This record gives sequence, C-alpha cells and structure tokens, in this order.
Amino acid sequence: MNVRPRRLRATPAMRRLVAETRLNPADLVLPLFVREGSEPRPLNSMPGILQHTTESVRAAVNEAADLGLGGVMLFGVPDAKDAVGSGATDYDGILNQATRVVVAEVGDALVVQTDLCLDEFTDHGHCGVLDADGRVDNDATLLRYRDMAIAQAESGSELLGLSGMMDGQVAAVRDALDSQGFENTAILAYSAKYASAFYGPFREAVGSTLRGDRKTYQQDPANRREGLHETMLDLEQGADIVMVKPAMSYLDVLADVAAMSPVPVWAYQVSGEYAMIEAAAANGWIDRERAIFESVTSIRRAGADVVLTYYAPEIARTLREQP
Ligand code: PBG
Repeated sequence: MNVRPRRLRATPAMRRLVAETRLNPADLVLPLFVREGSEPRPLNSMPGILQHTTESVRAAVNEAADLGLGGVMLFGVPDAKDAVGSGATDYDGILNQATRVVVAEVGDALVVQTDLCLDEFTDHGHCGVLDADGRVDNDATLLRYRDMAIAQAESGSELLGLSGMMDGQVAAVRDALDSQGFENTAILAYSAKYASAFYGPFREAVGSTLRGDRKTYQQDPANRREGLHETMLDLEQGADIVMVKPAMSYLDVLADVAAMSPVPVWAYQVSGEYAMIEAAAANGWIDRERAIFESVTSIRRAGADVVLTYYAPEIARTLREQP
C-alpha cells in the first residue's frame, strides 16, 4: 500500500497547507435589518441578531468595515405597510434612509447593498403587488421594482439585490437604472431562489404579515434543472452577479450554477440555517463554532465566491484571532 491519503491529514500545519477552500472576511457579506424607531430590537428566532435603528446600525457597519468584510446587505423594516409597498419608493422610507446613513459611514470601505423586493413594505406580505383576484401581478410589480431601483440607487446603494423572483425583473431594473443615468449601479440577481421553509425566522426579522406562501413565484425545492434556467435568463438580462438561495439544502444547484456562470456566483446562508445552528448549539447538541465554519466552508466549496451570512462578523473575528 503506497497511497496513504492520511499523510496529508497528519498535523494541523499540513492540513492547513493542503486545504482547498479557505474563508476570508472579504468573501463574506453581512445582512442587516434596520427598523424605524429609536430602540434596536433583538429577534427571538435569531438569537444574537438585532433589528437595528438608523443610529445603532452605524456601529455595526463600522465593525463590519474594521473586520474587513466584503459588504453589507440592508433590509428595511417599516412601521407602516400598504398594498403597493409605498415605503419602498419613498425617499424617506426606512431602507433608503438607512442606505444613506450606511453609505456616509462606510461607503468607501464596504460595498453597500440593498434588498430590492416589496415584501418588507406590503401589508399582505407578498413580494409584489396583487391583481384584482389577489394574485401576484408580475408585470405591475416590475413597474414598482423600476421605481424602487431608482430610489435605492439615488440613496447610494451600489449593488441591488433583486430577490422578488418576478419574471423579467433584471431586464426591467437594468433599463430603469440606465434611463436615469445609473449605468454603474450593479445588479445581484437572486437567480435560483426557492420557496423555502428556511426563511421562517426572516419573517420575524422584517415583521412580515404574509399569509399563504410564495410558491407561485419562488422555485419548487424539487427542481434542479430549473435553477439553471432561471440563472440563464438573469444572465441574458444583464445580471452582474447571480445567487443561489438558500445555501445548504441547494449545494447541488449552487455547483451547477458555479460550473456555468461567467459572472460571480454567490449564495445566501439564510435565517433558518442560522437558527438551526443556534438552536442545536444552545441545547449542547453540536459544537457551535465548528458547525459555523463547516457550513460556510461547504457553501464556498460547492462554488460560492461570496457567502451572505449572519455569521460574517463572528467568522472574521475568529479568523483574526486564529488565522
Ligand atoms: C425577500 C427576501 C427574503 C429573504 C431575503 N430576501 C424572504 C423571502 O423570500 O421569503 C430571506 C433571507 C433569510 O431568510 O435570511 N425580500
């Protein structure tokens, strides 16, 4: 027997040297929630994560910059919601306001990104506007997304995260941005986004009032091939970056997309993935830190260039202490 793979696993230094995948703070993006009001609020279903205020978010983004993260993805949590999600296109809406605060604070150090979707702003909780029969109206929603894109670009967002899964949304937003002189505002397309139970805690995080589900616009978890189709359509429409979401239950889709995409491929370790690790660790059932590193490393290994993860600051801190 002359082939002994264990030789390369013998010491920590050797294992480190032959590791095929590494985590770097620059490859991580931190999602942040910003609410109206004067007090940050902890989230029950995401222990350790806050709904920030426009004041408390300053410290969070400065820490993110100090830790060398790649960027932050902002989500707005408005007090008032309505049928068309007016707060999304209001210059003084919470997300646009928070974007201006964060850009002023760390705009040079971090790529400031914004969620472009209506669900945080609608009283029915859907990602688009509804037609007379209560169905999500694709093309009427695109008109809202166009306006939302311009409001976000005007507020200084550099990268718009299109997470609504409307058909044609990338082309519509690209056209709207270009028509207003925002040729340099980039588009992150949530291309293969699945109707997932793992978004559960996010509903609390953005105060969602959704009844029903998103199965008529987000993808069926059963479909792998369709993830490629959605990605191809977004590439044709001009997506600058494509994303697969959630991450851990969709590593096959992620690997497929990574194999074919000419543009960067990102993945989102979503709220439920975070909550599962936290809950198991709180019960003493898994080693929390190892589970965090293993989960994010596996997402990178499957092909993600960048990972959106609520663990971004903690991973960066740990890497700094024990590189
Ligand atoms: C839509 C959006 C969602 C998430 C990010 N953008 C919720 C959904 O599609 O239902 C989920 C993120 C997470 O669960 O961490 N605006």
